[in-house]
Amino acid sequence: MAKPKRRYVCRACGAVAPRWMGQCPACGEWDSLEEEVALPSAGKAAVLEGKAPVALRDVTGEDVMRWDMADPELNRVLGGGLVKGSLVLFGGAPGIGKSTLLLQMALNTPKQTVLYVAGEESPRQVKMRAERLKNTIREGLLIVDQTDVAAVLSACQTIKPDILIVDSLHTLSTAVVDGPPGSISQLKAVTYQLMQAARDLEMAVIIVGHVTKEGQVAGPRLVEHMVDVVLYLEGDRQVGFRLLRAVKNRFGAVSEIGVYVMTGQGLQPVQDPSAHFLTERRAGVAGVAGGVTVEGIRPLMLEVQALVSPSYYQIPQRSATGYDPKRLQMLLAVLEKRVHKAVGGQDVFLNITGGFRIKDTALDLAVVMALASAHADAALPPRAVFVGEVGLTGELRPVPFMEMRIDEALRHGAEPIVVPAAVGKGPASRYAGVRSFATVREVVDEWLG
Ligand SMILES: Nc1ncnc2c1ncn2[C@@H]1O[C@H](COP(=O)(O)OP(=O)(O)OP(=O)(O)O)[C@@H](O)[C@H]1O
Ligand SMILES: [Mg+2]
Repeated sequence: MAKPKRRYVCRACGAVAPRWMGQCPACGEWDSLEEEVALPSAGKAAVLEGKAPVALRDVTGEDVMRWDMADPELNRVLGGGLVKGSLVLFGGAPGIGKSTLLLQMALNTPKQTVLYVAGEESPRQVKMRAERLKNTIREGLLIVDQTDVAAVLSACQTIKPDILIVDSLHTLSTAVVDGPPGSISQLKAVTYQLMQAARDLEMAVIIVGHVTKEGQVAGPRLVEHMVDVVLYLEGDRQVGFRLLRAVKNRFGAVSEIGVYVMTGQGLQPVQDPSAHFLTERRAGVAGVAGGVTVEGIRPLMLEVQALVSPSYYQIPQRSATGYDPKRLQMLLAVLEKRVHKAVGGQDVFLNITGGFRIKDTALDLAVVMALASAHADAALPPRAVFVGEVGLTGELRPVPFMEMRIDEALRHGAEPIVVPAAVGKGPASRYAGVRSFATVREVVDEWLG
């Protein structure tokens, strides 16, 4: 037998190098190369024995079959349900709720046989969580604490589950390749075997993956390429909402998001997240402004809170939660120079409620208005919503999905809805309650003059 070739793979970008180096030549990451033993190729015979090509129009077989997961948010993100025979990678930060969401799914699906492979927790621990999530644990939900993929797959041959949940990929290993569980060669080999099993046994396989500091599934990118669907659960561990996002989906759009809130009974789907924020808004409070962001293709109304107070430090503090601190600096400069509000010497704190991290520039105007309202210590109209990008000269610029944002705000009884002048003249002019302005200064003068 030919000697297996040694090669080195970058944990960060997946680049391959023939020898070990301290720094990845492709992405520049330090100490990221890890040895991977390439499997000896099966030789020419395997190529010759391959399946014969057929005309695409003559291809037969059943259409994609989807199962209802009894969770509207999960169904939505999966593109209408879990596809039979598909391979799903599920990533998220430690403690964000990955195991909770999958166990909930396993408990709630009405009739599918589910095999839950617990590599990180004992069956007893999983049962305790299941009891917390649901009063009765249905039949057809099986659990095994196994870390050898061959043993898991042989259990699958016997049980023939519809759904196999692997929690987590990093705990499984295979004897086919060297290396400890979680190493690059193990991750790839285990994923490959699970992919084969998903096709052969026609079961949906959901694999939990750990994420790196940068928020990507740890291991080579190749794992993400191998699977059909990549889901991420993100959000703030302490407070607020969890967003379920598909970053890859061979069976549906990737623009859908699911919204959950963590409770004692697990992750509860939130069908109308905007309604949550609005009920929490109080009238007559300074430093609060409403805005509408778009996550994927889903509009979300949220609240921006600001506090501006005299500084006791030589360099005033700037603190932003859920928002880019650089963008905050820029908007403060606009407020100072274009609206002539002296915020320079004061401490400024900004918070996006709900635990969201927002990059959407459509929230610029809401941020400026929250800051101006805090600075003036005067409240804005309680149902007002501000949507628009703020330029360096203080001009208001239109943003994408304007009609969707206005519709969402109207649906929740927002009034007035403040938009950039360019939008107000266009499609938005037919809506009552929409007010349009050319500059941020005009908006501040109107309500906080
Ligand atoms: N009794 C409880 N009441 C309310 N929330 C709880 C309770 N127990 C756990 N949680 C929540 O569940 C979270 C843990 O969820 P889970 O174990 O599903 O996360 P995970 O993503 O699987 O984490 P890991 O990466 O460590 O496996 C905790 O952070 C906590 O918010
Ligand atoms: Mg877990």
